[in-house]
Amino acid sequence: MSGVKVGVVGAGYVGLTTAVCLAERGLDTACVDLDAAKVDRLNAGDPVIDEPGLPLLLRSGLAARKLCFDTDYAALADCDVVFVCVPTPSGADGAADLRAVESAVDTLGRVLTAPAVVALKSTVPVGTTRRMAARLRDRGLSVASIPEFLRESHAIYDFRNPDRVVIGSETPRAAALLRQVYGVGSQRTFEMSPESAELAKYASNAFLAVKLSYANSLARLCAHAGADIADVTRCMGADVRIGGHFLQPGPGWGGSCLPKDTAALLHAGRDAGVDLPEVAAARTTNDVQAERIASTLQRLLPDALPDARITALGLTFKANTTDVRDSPALRVCGGLTAAGAQVSGYDPRLGSIDPATLHRCGVVGVDDPYVATKGANAIVVLTEWSQFRDLDWPSIAEQAPGAVVLDTRNLLSRDAIAGTGLRYLGNGTVGGY
Ligand code: UDX
Ligand code: UDX
Repeated sequence: MSGVKVGVVGAGYVGLTTAVCLAERGLDTACVDLDAAKVDRLNAGDPVIDEPGLPLLLRSGLAARKLCFDTDYAALADCDVVFVCVPTPSGADGAADLRAVESAVDTLGRVLTAPAVVALKSTVPVGTTRRMAARLRDRGLSVASIPEFLRESHAIYDFRNPDRVVIGSETPRAAALLRQVYGVGSQRTFEMSPESAELAKYASNAFLAVKLSYANSLARLCAHAGADIADVTRCMGADVRIGGHFLQPGPGWGGSCLPKDTAALLHAGRDAGVDLPEVAAARTTNDVQAERIASTLQRLLPDALPDARITALGLTFKANTTDVRDSPALRVCGGLTAAGAQVSGYDPRLGSIDPATLHRCGVVGVDDPYVATKGANAIVVLTEWSQFRDLDWPSIAEQAPGAVVLDTRNLLSRDAIAGTGLRYLGNGTVGGY
């Protein structure tokens, strides 16, 4: 693929992963980000975010001079294709805020040379790609949609082993160039209109949210019915029409994508006069998860929630990341502190979490799990960090006698807790909550 030069705008989870993986494929890759401090750190080989495999790829890309970072769009001037990976957060009404995408596209329109391709990886509402294409048509540039499906903490793996590469383009030349850049076999490359590609991304994330909320509601029913959610979902997942992924109950789903993408899809539906009650219900179910945990603790703690000492184990939105954006764990903590509880929080990556974020939820961060759990009335497992299984639970029991352990992720072994004097409750399990 010699001679093809690629660019990336936005060195976040999506853009940085894309840039280092394209450089690994031997492509000359320039990445632009408006954050000068981040650009300096990346050029010095500091990956900034925590993503398995990223440090090695970043450093080898820089060493091989296949990869560079800049704040100036001029670095992208001779690119054949530029991937736009800037955020599209939820606006007040749930609609995606497209200002960063529009600004990136307009700036690219001024620096790129025809017939370069602008490829939108940012999650954008249906119609955005075509609208951006109209802006750049006079300059001989084309715009395609190539939505990103990678998961944080598996981003490099997902880039190298995609289930599907979706290319939404009206221009055969642009589609061919993107196919070439990705180099993925035709069986996993899905070509379609920009509108279908844009909607496919929202549809996928919303479906995952629906599946998760269904699992969380079923867990609730299991606890009342004396059934075990693990058995129920194991059985469901064995049916290939259902599939076993995304059936693990928890404290609710979060992160930087599922909440904003479900909101944006509902907003798009409203604009089009199409209700999506399944997606609305998934969000409603998710909204009550934190309350469900608070009311369970209210019921179990003899002295009730105000003044109870509660330890949150796990603060990130899922394990193996430092990301706390829209973290269900913090939502739960915020609800507990609002009810008057004193909440201390431990997370294996506490040092990478902005203390101001914890402060806003009223959580006192403690960087030792044994100190964090000392004297607790309740210990709530909120993120599925595997190392929580290996804690010395008998020691914890000695320092927090009789404490309730609420395992929202069903991570711990009931047997390991049994006999220590702690009261274990799983999520949707027999004897659980
Ligand atoms: C991406 C987006 O593609 C989003 O639409 C999708 O839904 C999820 O993935 P993400 O990679 O998570 O977002 O964003 P983030 O980690 O916040 O990084 C964005 C980067 O873009 C930051 O480094 C920021 O400095 C940079 N940025 C932002 C720009 O360079 N220009 C801007 O105008 C705005
Ligand atoms: C998601 C999509 O999976 C990815 O395809 C998309 O491109 C970006 O958004 P990510 O935000 O990294 O990825 O997180 P994901 O792994 O999907 O988890 C989302 C939330 O669901 C987390 O809070 C996680 O803890 C929760 N979850 C996930 C469960 O509670 N149970 C599960 O079985 C799976």
